[in-house]
Amino acid sequence: MLLRIVKFLKDLLLASRLFTILKPLNHLLGFLFHFTKLTSWVNKNSGKFIKSDFYTPNRNYSKRPFLYKDVMDHYALADNPVHYFEFGVASGVSFKWWLANNSNNDSHFFGFDTFEGLPEDWGGFYQKGAMSHGIPDIKDERAKFYKGLFQETLTPFIEDHNAFLKLPIRKVIHLDADLFTATLFTLSQLYPYLKKGDVLIFDEFSVANHEFKALDLFQEVFYVKCKPIFAQNNFYQVAFEIE
Ligand SMILES: C[S@@+](CC[C@H](N)C(=O)[O-])C[C@H]1O[C@@H](n2cnc3c(N)ncnc32)[C@H](O)[C@@H]1O
Repeated sequence: MLLRIVKFLKDLLLASRLFTILKPLNHLLGFLFHFTKLTSWVNKNSGKFIKSDFYTPNRNYSKRPFLYKDVMDHYALADNPVHYFEFGVASGVSFKWWLANNSNNDSHFFGFDTFEGLPEDWGGFYQKGAMSHGIPDIKDERAKFYKGLFQETLTPFIEDHNAFLKLPIRKVIHLDADLFTATLFTLSQLYPYLKKGDVLIFDEFSVANHEFKALDLFQEVFYVKCKPIFAQNNFYQVAFEIE
């Protein structure tokens, strides 16, 4: 009986379209939902990191390389081969750091970007087209760039590198596109090639309705588990190991 009443009320609400009056609040409600999830995530995970600066009153973007160094030292990546993928290269600041700090000739570094800026607005401050830079001028033969939307370049890349992506070399996947769409698309495409011990680095993880939401949904939908390892700037930069 109760079930019939619930079904009837749900159908009535759909038919009346009453909830369209909430549409102007969609963004706010969505943000509150994901911020609440992020807060619960912090509550559950903040003690699990090998190293984290939470809570720091001084969030400082220039501390990003400390997290890269922690990852590099933890996995002894300075001299060993690594397959490094960066999604969101812009002028190449982080890409160049990884390239300069790994000396192994068998390493490969792949950078993906529109190189024409963000494909959509991000938050209230960055408009579509922001962060536009040309392809970085890098002479190192281990580095390759793929220009265009991930949604256009990544699937053909995977088709061309199917065997390569399955090699038993640690992958470091640096997700620095800022956007929910780009981050979730990338994780979903790379899912079949992720193996235990691969590393995911996020650059704006604590932005609740973008990178956090992308990883949260990815883990929920694909049943993937990610172990927190390093965090910087109150979880703005976070590294995870695939379990
Ligand atoms: C914050 S910047 C990257 C910063 C860079 N990693 C660094 O350390 O200097 C974000 C980049 O992501 C790129 N981007 C975002 N969404 C994208 C998408 N769907 N396809 C391709 N590039 C995208 C933008 O063009 C922008 O250059």
